[in-house]
This record gives sequence, structure tokens and C-alpha cells, in this order.
Amino acid sequence: MRIIRCKDYADMSRKTANIISAQVILKPNCKLGLATGTTPIGAYEQLIKWYEKGDVDFSEVSTYNLDEYLGLGGDHPQSYRYFMNDTFFDHINIDKTRTHVPDGSNLDAEAACAAYDELMAAAGPLDLQLLGIGRNGHVGFNEPGESFSKGTHCVELAQSTIEANSRLFDSIDDVPRKAYSMGVQNIMSAKTILVAASGADKAQAVHDMIYGPVSPRCTASILQLHADCFVVADEAALSLC
Ligand code: PGA
Repeated sequence: MRIIRCKDYADMSRKTANIISAQVILKPNCKLGLATGTTPIGAYEQLIKWYEKGDVDFSEVSTYNLDEYLGLGGDHPQSYRYFMNDTFFDHINIDKTRTHVPDGSNLDAEAACAAYDELMAAAGPLDLQLLGIGRNGHVGFNEPGESFSKGTHCVELAQSTIEANSRLFDSIDDVPRKAYSMGVQNIMSAKTILVAASGADKAQAVHDMIYGPVSPRCTASILQLHADCFVVADEAALSLC
């Protein structure tokens, strides 16, 4: 794992955006794995600015998002499809038909997950997978557990994740209890992985990801076994490292 130390959130966002834009410049028809959450918002904003200046062109890029709440359609303001359109896709020249998010409106979990895995298998390995990390070490919605997941699957969200994500909902009762998430094997199949992290509340998870034993108790720890993974994190997130 390579660690790229950043001063603060703004620095982390710019460096994350730099790596993504370099990927797009090097391979205009690249396949990006993208993430939602607070962490990547600054990087998406930076990429939009560079797009507006004419420095980066997304017209041939395809994207595959990590996860989606079960039961929320793409027009629901808290769905991850809505987040991606609103935060990023609506502001760049990406072909929306090339942007993919698990279908949270499909309540048939088996069918929804199989469809997403088929889509990803047809696409082949992603060139660059962007990840945030949860306070409990989750990546995507792969919560701490007894084993690492393989393909896209339906997960019960951990109570700590429901609490962390409730800030975006009117009340904690509105947070969906289940989600579809790419599995660890999907994530590990990417050619390059970039984990972005900011803030002291991520420090323990970032430490365990980098230095802890490889264990499903901290899902992100498996990234130690990936051949090309780097962590772009600010001083606060790296404060225990
Ligand atoms: P955050 O979420 O970027 O909103 O902190 C990251 C995650 O839970 O994976």
C-alpha cells in the first residue's frame, strides 16, 4: 500500500482528483469504480472545475458505483444514483448510459445483484476503483463480519453505519436498513485502488486498514493484499499511523 499524505480535506480532494483525471487522460475510455459519501465530494467538485476548463474529457468514460440503498429508486434524493447525478454526472460530459449504480428499486435482491455482477463481468476489470472507508473499516457496504464477501450482495447495514448516515436523512428511522453492495472480490478485481480518507474519526479505521491483521473484522484490511492500492489521506486520518 502506498500512502499519500495530505495536509487537509482540500489537499486530499485535489490529489484524489489528480489521480482520477490522470487515469482519464491516460485512457479516455477507462472504467472507473466510484463511491458516494462525504469524502469524495471535494474531488468530484475539483474534477468538474477541470472539465469546465477543458482539461479533462469524460465522454468515453464508464463508471460503476459501489452500492445503493435497497428500496430507493434513482429519483429519491437520498439514493446514491441521485447523489452521483447531482454531485458529479450532471456537471460533466459523461454519457449517462455508461454510468452504473446497483438498482435499489429492484426489490428482488438475487436478481438485482446478479444483474450488477453480470454487468461488471461483461465490462472486465475496472481501471481505477475509488473507495471511501467507514469508521468501522467498511468499504462499499461490506460491513465487519466473519468472512469477506465475493460478488454483489444484499447487506444488513451495521447500526454504526445507520447512525453515521442518518445525518443525511430527516430521521434515523428513514435510513434504509439494507443495501446492495459490490463484494470484496469485485473491489479487489480493480487494476488500481485509491482509498480516500479524511478526518480524525477515520484514524482508527485507516490504521487498522494499513497495519492491522488482514481480517473481515476490518474489511478494508484486505486491501493490503492488492498489488496496486494507494491511500490518499489527510493528517487527521493518518494521525494513528
Ligand atoms: P463518508 O463515508 O465518506 O461519508 O465518511 C465513507 C464510507 O462510509 O464508506
